[in-house]
Amino acid sequence: MKLGVTGASGQLGRLVVQDLLKTCRPEDIVAIVRDPAKAADLASAGVEVRKGDYEDRAGLDVVLGGIDKLLLVSSNELGKRFAQHKNVIDAAKAAGVKHVIYTSAPKATTSALILAPEHKATEEYLAGSGLAYTVLRNNWYTENYANSIKQAAQSGELVAATGAGKVASAERADYAAAAAAVLTGEGHEGAVYELSGAEAWDFEQLAAAIAEAAGCACAYKPVSADQLKANLMAAGLDEGVAGFVAALDANIADGTLEEATADLQKLIGRPGTPLKETVKKIVK
Ligand SMILES: NC(=O)c1ccc[n+]([C@@H]2O[C@H](COP(=O)([O-])OP(=O)(O)OC[C@H]3O[C@@H](n4cnc5c(N)ncnc54)[C@H](OP(=O)(O)O)[C@@H]3O)[C@@H](O)[C@H]2O)c1
Repeated sequence: MKLGVTGASGQLGRLVVQDLLKTCRPEDIVAIVRDPAKAADLASAGVEVRKGDYEDRAGLDVVLGGIDKLLLVSSNELGKRFAQHKNVIDAAKAAGVKHVIYTSAPKATTSALILAPEHKATEEYLAGSGLAYTVLRNNWYTENYANSIKQAAQSGELVAATGAGKVASAERADYAAAAAAVLTGEGHEGAVYELSGAEAWDFEQLAAAIAEAAGCACAYKPVSADQLKANLMAAGLDEGVAGFVAALDANIADGTLEEATADLQKLIGRPGTPLKETVKKIVK
């Protein structure tokens, strides 16, 4: 059984391949990357590295040949993602891939999260493709806040526009373990998993975790989305990026990421890494 992983030179994809290497023969793993130089470590471990671009529909037909199960790691090129994912799904079908697993976002088909529409379109296209499929709706990576955590540990202030909103995050490695479990396991066809940490946390709790880990005072300073956008622009971000970050915070304030579920624990046999543990690793 050949297992393929796209985005294998990225942070999540690389962790999935590393997890697969614990239980699979390296020659049964295919890492699909845009730039093989970035996957030299995987090639050295015996993994087959193939060069493939989500933009290159014809090339993907060849690249996906012989793969039985494919993890499609969602692209990071916002706005282009549905067209790119469609290319991969079409090519998977043409190449005879039997099962495609896709990394999506919480409640992607009904959520107001500004990132949801491209995931919704992909999920619906995949479900209608005739391929066996599994959807991994990953909640936030706790590591998304690495820079904010480091800054807050220095300044003593955690500024965000998340109100009293909660985030049911887990670490990338937790989601990677879940993807590896689905790739190597059976009975996941047609499943849509809502993957999250065991407990949602709010920004008061994040500030407290930073204070504990850094051994300093740290307080959450809530601001409005407009104020956050203005702050980020004053710090040099362009209006589009600042507005995007502020809109994500507003989504969190509205509760779009608050639901903690048991799906991750069921797949990996342990809860996601708790907030405090990840914050400690980031601060040290
Ligand atoms: N749940 C969350 O909190 C969260 C946060 C951020 C992102 N995400 C989503 O989850 C995905 C994986 O996260 P991550 O942390 O691993 O992100 P990442 O490190 O940015 O990895 C994204 C991967 O997608 C690959 N890629 C992008 N465009 C491509 C193309 N045209 N053809 C082939 N490969 C392409 C990148 O290739 P290169 O290595 O060549 O750049 C990279 O390997 C992201 O892409 C994004 O969709 C989720």
